[in-house]
Amino acid sequence: MLRVLICGGSGYTGSELLRILALHDEVQITGVTSEKSAGMAVSELFPAFFIYENLKFEPLQIEKIKEKADLFFLALPHGKSQEVAAALLNAGKRVIDLSADFRIKDAKIYETWYKTPHLHHHLLSEAVYGLPEIYRDKIISARLIANPGCYPTSVILPLYPFLKKGLIDTDTIVVDSKSGTSGAGRKAEVSLSYCEVNEDFRAYNVAKHRHTPEIEQELSYASGKNITIDFTTHLLPVNRGILSTIYARLSKSLNTTDALDILEEIYSDEPFVKILPEGQLPAIKHIKGTNFCYISAIVNSRTGRIILISAIDNLVKGASGQAVQNMNIMFGIEETKALKNLALSP
Ligand SMILES: NC(=O)c1ccc[n+]([C@@H]2O[C@H](COP(=O)([O-])OP(=O)(O)OC[C@H]3O[C@@H](n4cnc5c(N)ncnc54)[C@H](OP(=O)(O)O)[C@@H]3O)[C@@H](O)[C@H]2O)c1
Repeated sequence: MLRVLICGGSGYTGSELLRILALHDEVQITGVTSEKSAGMAVSELFPAFFIYENLKFEPLQIEKIKEKADLFFLALPHGKSQEVAAALLNAGKRVIDLSADFRIKDAKIYETWYKTPHLHHHLLSEAVYGLPEIYRDKIISARLIANPGCYPTSVILPLYPFLKKGLIDTDTIVVDSKSGTSGAGRKAEVSLSYCEVNEDFRAYNVAKHRHTPEIEQELSYASGKNITIDFTTHLLPVNRGILSTIYARLSKSLNTTDALDILEEIYSDEPFVKILPEGQLPAIKHIKGTNFCYISAIVNSRTGRIILISAIDNLVKGASGQAVQNMNIMFGIEETKALKNLALSP
């Protein structure tokens, strides 16, 4: 049994880890932290998790938790994660960080976009970006996984094959993404309250969303060129799910069938990427609660642009499901364990 501990188990991604790991027969959750709910049973805060009646939240005190597990999931705010990750690595542990703290390789870019000092620069080069479809070989032996952001997962996966093959004019990428409100975490904020979000649909953080440099970094690595994008995010009045629509001018002539074949060529063996047949489009309803990324491609022959559409659940393939996928790879467990049977919505 692999012993795991969840730091920040009372939040949305932490509780999603609890949901997924309940299905994992090779993992034992040996601890879960929360400052506000310390002392409370997990099943008291989350009555749906009655199976965790003997597991209590405890405060995040490194000295008390560090010997309790072999792997630590950090479902913490950025800034806090870097401090906890550094201490756990020092104690010889392996860490999967769900925050943005180790995703961006250039500390200055991180500090500019996150307005937080990076106090553990030395770990940035070691951290492996945990997108299994691209970095599986490095994930196997990693001590520190920078689990990708939710929007970045939905954008990088569809674009990667076309950038790798040099089929896109890299100056023309426009990304239009929409996310459910759980993407902002389980905190109280007026702009996220029911009456503000319900029956509304609006853009936010236009041209300044923090996921922009992470997406640009990974797209640049794939293409070998410096890529900047237009990235507009919208808040959907739903709990979970991301739909991204991506536009780019093709640099070589392709039709829709060619584009779908290119996606299939890269992803046909991937357990959690599904390329939809021509005529079918992804919908957040289809991937809700699952670890899948659904992708479709359409070439608009009138404009010479490719239109890529992807759908993921921000809390699963966009966070905790991907984190469990990374854990499985790191510890030689079947990669789809606890993930392949996650409920599909009707
Ligand atoms: N939500 C998403 O869709 C999503 C997707 C991908 C990645 N992420 C990233 O994953 C991380 C967690 O996100 P989330 O949505 O789960 O956030 P969340 O719902 O706000 O939960 C945050 C968790 O961190 C704990 N925490 C907060 N400040 C702390 C501190 N100073 N010391 C110790 N524990 C602290 C909270 O515990 P208390 O009980 O004490 O408040 C809570 O358990 C973030 O970095 C986020 O950017 C989120």
